Amino acid sequence: MSECALVRCRHVHSTFNSVCPSSSSIAHGTCFVRHSRQCDKIAQSAECQKPTSPSQTATQPALATATNASIDSIHSTHPASSSTTMSIIHKKTVLITGCSAGGIGHAVAKNFQQRGYHVFATLRDLSKAADLADLENVDIIELDVTKPDSITRCKERVAHVTGGTLDILFNNAGVEFIKPLLDQDLTEARELFDVNVWGLLAVTQAFAPLVIESRGIIINQSSIDAVINPVFAGIFSASKAAVTRLSEVLRCELEPLGVRVVTVMSGSADTPMFTKPGSQMHLPETSYYYNTQAQSYKERMDFQSKAWKVDVLAESIVKSVLAGVRYPIWPGSFGFLVRILTWIAPISLVDGLINPERGINMVKRL
Ligand SMILES: NC(=O)c1ccc[n+]([C@@H]2O[C@H](COP(=O)([O-])OP(=O)(O)OC[C@H]3O[C@@H](n4cnc5c(N)ncnc54)[C@H](OP(=O)(O)O)[C@@H]3O)[C@@H](O)[C@H]2O)c1
Repeated sequence: MSECALVRCRHVHSTFNSVCPSSSSIAHGTCFVRHSRQCDKIAQSAECQKPTSPSQTATQPALATATNASIDSIHSTHPASSSTTMSIIHKKTVLITGCSAGGIGHAVAKNFQQRGYHVFATLRDLSKAADLADLENVDIIELDVTKPDSITRCKERVAHVTGGTLDILFNNAGVEFIKPLLDQDLTEARELFDVNVWGLLAVTQAFAPLVIESRGIIINQSSIDAVINPVFAGIFSASKAAVTRLSEVLRCELEPLGVRVVTVMSGSADTPMFTKPGSQMHLPETSYYYNTQAQSYKERMDFQSKAWKVDVLAESIVKSVLAGVRYPIWPGSFGFLVRILTWIAPISLVDGLINPERGINMVKRL
């Protein structure tokens, strides 16, 4: 084993141990992202060395200290790329946020894996990784995009195994709820912006040096709701409008650094988002919109029934991105239609096509 590899191994053993208390697993290498099966897999591919002295299997605090020392020494020499750290991954790499089973991130992760990428599939709840955990070249990593510590930990782990590069970052994580603006609790609204907007920017800021190092690609998940006026989805559509602007300005700011940014104006895709808490309105009787709830729910279910299969959406996104697209793409059902309508049709026509279906004409002054 080369000297570089030894440095990397000590590094990774220690990092793993700081999140996985199984001391016997320390010998296996980079399993900080997975359980023992992945441990064995990566250990083989990386020729990871078993600990040679009792000190290497010491208690967690000692190892954590060693980890910090390794990180510091490498970063102090190469702050941007850690280029003295030998990468143990020789494939192209992609990191995706929000990879829960059934969702777009999950399908995109599988799509990249099938194309031969090494995938960092991140989730805030690791139990939702489902079958992703069984795939070769997929590392499951915990990442809550609203928590700075979680972002930093994830970034450091990825940098250690890639040698400080990342070819593609896909900001996919997002939340949605349905509620009229007059009934909206502002704390809940701010929390949505924390995930959809500020979480996306925080993850981008953290991983940008790695993507710049590899002259890579950043993909940002927006929505057709960003350019229409969908009643009862005001907070979500406002957040996606913000995402769209952030993403498009990033496209211009990162172009001179060799990074391509792609905004995905997704139409509808059949995912768990349609049935999560908050996807159906539960309004108080005093709400001006109380009698629209059944109609609004019906429209949502109709919308879901016309949605693209999530695998089809993932294939469309990945294909366009890898083909070199430089401007926003509009996959998903109604994506192309909304693109055309918002380009050529008057706003009143677009409003009239969408909002009566959701029950807005049922609203009367009390
Ligand atoms: N489905 C559509 O029709 C559609 C249309 C346009 C745009 N989009 C966008 O596509 C993206 C994916 O949505 P989806 O339809 O696939 O729904 P989904 O299955 O609910 O996926 C959303 C993902 O984001 C994760 N997430 C939520 N808060 C997070 C946080 N604080 N940190 C990290 N991850 C977090 C969710 O984790 P949990 O499972 O733990 O909640 C889940 O993994 C979202 O940005 C959404 O706005 C979807």
